[in-house]
Amino acid sequence: MSTPYVALLVVTFALHALLIGFVLAGTAYVAIRGLRGGDDPLAAASRDWLPFALGAAITAGVAPLLFVQVLYQPRFYTANLLLFVRWLAIVPALIVGFYALYLGKSARAAAWSARARAAVATLALACFVFVAWSWIEDHALAMQRDPATWAAHYGRGALRHRDPTIAPRLAMWLGVAAAVWPLGMLYAAPGVAPRRLAAIALGGLAVAALGAALAAGATDARSVIDVAAARGWLYGLAAATAALALAWGAVALGRAPARGAIAAATVALALTLAGAREAMRAAAIDPRLATRVEHAQGLPLFVAALALGGAAIGWCLVIARRATRG
Ligand code: HEM
Repeated sequence: MSTPYVALLVVTFALHALLIGFVLAGTAYVAIRGLRGGDDPLAAASRDWLPFALGAAITAGVAPLLFVQVLYQPRFYTANLLLFVRWLAIVPALIVGFYALYLGKSARAAAWSARARAAVATLALACFVFVAWSWIEDHALAMQRDPATWAAHYGRGALRHRDPTIAPRLAMWLGVAAAVWPLGMLYAAPGVAPRRLAAIALGGLAVAALGAALAAGATDARSVIDVAAARGWLYGLAAATAALALAWGAVALGRAPARGAIAAATVALALTLAGAREAMRAAAIDPRLATRVEHAQGLPLFVAALALGGAAIGWCLVIARRATRG
């Protein structure tokens, strides 16, 4: 059974989604605040945390990358190869976006005009939206039911895959980002503008729901994505969305944010979304590959590496904490 790998993919992808959400919406907030000619403590705290958050988000992308390759090997590699240089463009885009974030928080940039700083943040945002779009496009191409679609793509030498689900899916992920970032701000900038955070989170949930509905409507028979197969996860997702909307709704009405409840609902949102996403395509796992995966060796080594890696990360956190406390 490939179930443990699917479970690991769901959990690690949820972590990636949470961190990427913080990066996308945080960069958007800094850019929009700057374009409107000002600055505020939410933008300042975001600027401070964004380079670290991007590093963590990219690192958290590596784990699901490994599991996607194990589970959907032929599909994933085919899509990567067909998109070719277009796909590789995410690397320079990430480098430019990363440096733009560091530049944005530097003392040098602090002396620039608000417009120049907004331009730097907008550049970073454009890079990250491009990367998000690229992952969605790759996913849509990988999930084509008929291999003839891939052959036609290759024949045309196309560097783009056009698919009606891409734009609504991008809207969904941007909405999720706006729903996730406010939780980070509750910790990075405690007590700052809670009602504004609530408005952003609630707006994000609405956009995400609209994007998801449009993407589901645009999914056609040419794709292996089966929305109905994820019914159980979708109920969980609806419950997590409702819980998060209620928690932020209370803040919008003037109550103090219940950080624990908001954190639990946000994590539940990411996990159920990742679970639903996987359930919709699980039928595409090649049975021959599943058998090979079932007989794969090395679990003790994996568990040992996991424990060692976890201990090393924990030790780094202890060292950093001690250093910053001083
Ligand atoms: C700013 C940078 C990034 C953004 C905004 C971003 C965004 C996204 C989005 C929106 C998806 C969902 C695609 C979909 O469901 O259609 C996704 C999937 C994914 N991302 Fe990222 N990502 C970024 C960087 C990375 C990096 C650097 C890695 C790898 C090291 C990575 C690994 C993955 C993996 C493995 C998936 C799942 C692919 C699949 O299931 O087919 N991401 N990313």
